[in-house]
Amino acid sequence: MKIRKIVCIGAGYVGGTTMAVIADKCPDIKMVVLDINPRRIAEWNSDALPVFEPGLKEIIARCRGRNLFYEDAHPEAIPDADMVFFSVNTPTKEFGEGAGMASDLQYNEQSARFILPHLKDGAIIVEKSTVPVQTAEAISRILHHNNDGRHFPVLSNPEFLAEGTAIQDLEDPDRVLIGCEENEAGRAAARALAEIYRRWVPEERIIFSNVWSAELSKLTANAFLAQRISSINAMTALCEVTNASVTEISQAIGMDSRIGSKFLEAGVGFGGSCFRKDILNLSYICQQQGLPEEAAYWKSVVGMNDYQINRFTRNVIDRQFNTVTGKKLAVFGFAFKPGTNDTRDSPARYVCLKLLEERAHLAITDPEALENAQRDLQGLTGKVEFEPDPYKAAAGAHAIVLITHWDAYRKLDYRRIFATMEKPASFFDGRNWIDPHTLHEIGFHVYPIGKSPLLPD
Ligand code: UDX
Ligand code: UDX
Repeated sequence: MKIRKIVCIGAGYVGGTTMAVIADKCPDIKMVVLDINPRRIAEWNSDALPVFEPGLKEIIARCRGRNLFYEDAHPEAIPDADMVFFSVNTPTKEFGEGAGMASDLQYNEQSARFILPHLKDGAIIVEKSTVPVQTAEAISRILHHNNDGRHFPVLSNPEFLAEGTAIQDLEDPDRVLIGCEENEAGRAAARALAEIYRRWVPEERIIFSNVWSAELSKLTANAFLAQRISSINAMTALCEVTNASVTEISQAIGMDSRIGSKFLEAGVGFGGSCFRKDILNLSYICQQQGLPEEAAYWKSVVGMNDYQINRFTRNVIDRQFNTVTGKKLAVFGFAFKPGTNDTRDSPARYVCLKLLEERAHLAITDPEALENAQRDLQGLTGKVEFEPDPYKAAAGAHAIVLITHWDAYRKLDYRRIFATMEKPASFFDGRNWIDPHTLHEIGFHVYPIGKSPLLPD
């Protein structure tokens, strides 16, 4: 089957960037990305893209208006589509059965109902959103409930891209996974999708499975990655009281080829739109299947993360003579990781909320995420400033609380910063990002993660 036109429902981080890369690699395919949020679409069509990703701007400049179009959701886009991607959000359910754990699938269902009347027979549906296992089957049931003779194969093609490296991950993926129904129509649809990726992904990296394995692989990958972070974080408190260094431990175990060196950086905790949501979702699925031990095991990965964020924040308060009330604290970084403006589930938000509860005066700085930070903390009572200049944020502060390890923070003149701060001036390094000995020499009280504090002699 020759694919000439692809429609994507959802112009978010995943849909917006993935479709841009496909458009770039396949100039003969027309890509139309739809979204129910007109502001999002306007942003995609402007110079101020809604997503900050290295390399994205250049791709958009090459493809937008050529074979890549961002449009308000309109049914006229659907009838000549050969393939429809679903890339809508699947947040944790906030109400009813499974609240706080299960995925809210209402947007997937709404998308299926939106396209159904207009879909041509044989159009291939590709599920890209991370969803609980068997969602593809649910989508398939909605699409076929009329029994009107049309058939639409539903594929699962989970997205493994990480924010900040999205373009690189899409252009050079470790693997592309395509889950299909185990029948001829399903396999043909999978081949058609593989044909698209084959334009730039080596054959051996495109792998096939059944739909459920594909869906569950995504949840498992995220659960494993997050579990590594929680495991190394579970060593930090012990290191802090025994004079071991968690960085040295990460290095030592990471050189074991069975363990590997990635995702072993201890810190204030993981954030982002996926890890917490996907693990809670996995845990909920286990629970629903009558597997309470498995459910508890995976949930403990999130439990350790919550504990770590709290432990870090409590330490900030304890070390400020047990009170931060009325004290200015500079928060360095609000994005959930560097290289993005995304603040979804950022540890920074939890830390700031807790410090505000204690009536601290916060000066938050971040090179990309200040607008989102402002939105996240909107309506809160308390004294918060949003300051793009880290020097100004730190002036008059009792402590710097580093949460996101932006490169820019390594280039600052900490001697100059120290001179403008209240004394004693403390540095809580939630990412072990700034050399503690340099800070210590300048005169800071330094509190790294997973290492003994460095205090004045
Ligand atoms: C989302 C999910 O969060 C993630 O689990 C999944 O793997 C991929 O999709 P992301 O792209 O980061 O990730 O979400 P978001 O930036 O919120 O984008 C979703 C977009 O879908 C939003 O712009 C929203 O307006 C749009 N949408 C939602 C629709 O167009 N139609 C709907 O019915 C619902
Ligand atoms: C993650 C997965 O990596 C990606 O494959 C999936 O598609 C979506 O979820 P993302 O959330 O964008 O991607 O970022 P990631 O780089 O995985 O980082 C997640 C969080 O873990 C960040 O808060 C980061 O700071 C933290 N982290 C990461 C650590 O604390 N230590 C590490 O060693 C690595």
